[in-house]
Amino acid sequence: MNKLRIAIQKSGRLSEDSLKLLKDCSIKFPKGKNKLIASSTNFPAEILYLRDDDIPQYIEEGIADVGILGLNVVQEVQKNITINQYLGFSRCRLSLAVPRETNFRDVSFFEGKKIATSYPFLTRQFLEKNGINAEIEYISGSVEIAPGIGLASGICDLVSTGGTLFSNGLKEVATILESEAVVVSNPDLAEDKKPLLNKLLFRISSTLKAKNYKYILLNAPNKQLEKIIEVLPGMKSPTVMPLASGDWSSVHSVIKENDFWEVIDQLREYGAQGILVVPIEKMIL
Ligand code: PRP
Ligand code: ZN
Repeated sequence: MNKLRIAIQKSGRLSEDSLKLLKDCSIKFPKGKNKLIASSTNFPAEILYLRDDDIPQYIEEGIADVGILGLNVVQEVQKNITINQYLGFSRCRLSLAVPRETNFRDVSFFEGKKIATSYPFLTRQFLEKNGINAEIEYISGSVEIAPGIGLASGICDLVSTGGTLFSNGLKEVATILESEAVVVSNPDLAEDKKPLLNKLLFRISSTLKAKNYKYILLNAPNKQLEKIIEVLPGMKSPTVMPLASGDWSSVHSVIKENDFWEVIDQLREYGAQGILVVPIEKMIL
């Protein structure tokens, strides 16, 4: 039977979270450093450990079927691949930066200047959109040292914490792209692999949804039940069970992580007691 070939970054900002995501999807791979390819023991898949910049090409050529990758790389390389899902981790941005002491007013600063970057396509696109003529110096790594050694007046590079810019005496002056990890795949996937991709995507989305929700259990005085149910919509509606004694009920529901504290405050106001909030591992809607 055919196996789905999943490409992930071998080492770098994406690799740990990518492995964690596959683990959360219960797709197991034997551990082993320096391995470039491994077969899953419980899912028809092989995992390829690659340089992230190479993943789009491998997918376009059909050597890998699906990959986990930064949106920044996907947008830069302009290959024929499909974005299936945004993953919300490895968030960073592609930004222009200049030496800290530079008197920078706006992007017209770059007119006639040289910019060092590993992202020539996105940098040029941004400059063109802003009507700026600048020279682009492509370098594949350690871009942040370019201004210091007189190679360029500024750089365009990924920024996450800002630590790299700071320690190289640079300041961020404009953001070109907000990036996060995404799932990408070959748009002409073989028919027999499509169900495997769908299975993987279904598992990923169930895992991601679960992360955004919590399961909540509480005791509610019966006379306040209606109000309490109103603040707890649940997946359909909350489960309500009478307690063995007194005028109380036990209420079970699902709440969004983002609304969490506001919901809790309201529940307490309505007299809810013994509130338990527990993580959800998977969520199938
Ligand atoms: C990026 C970028 C910087 C660093 C910025 O490299 O080139 O070196 O991260 O992060 P910070 O703002 O948290 O200091 P990355 O590790 O993604 O390597 P890659 O671009 O070569 O894949
Ligand atoms: Zn890279």
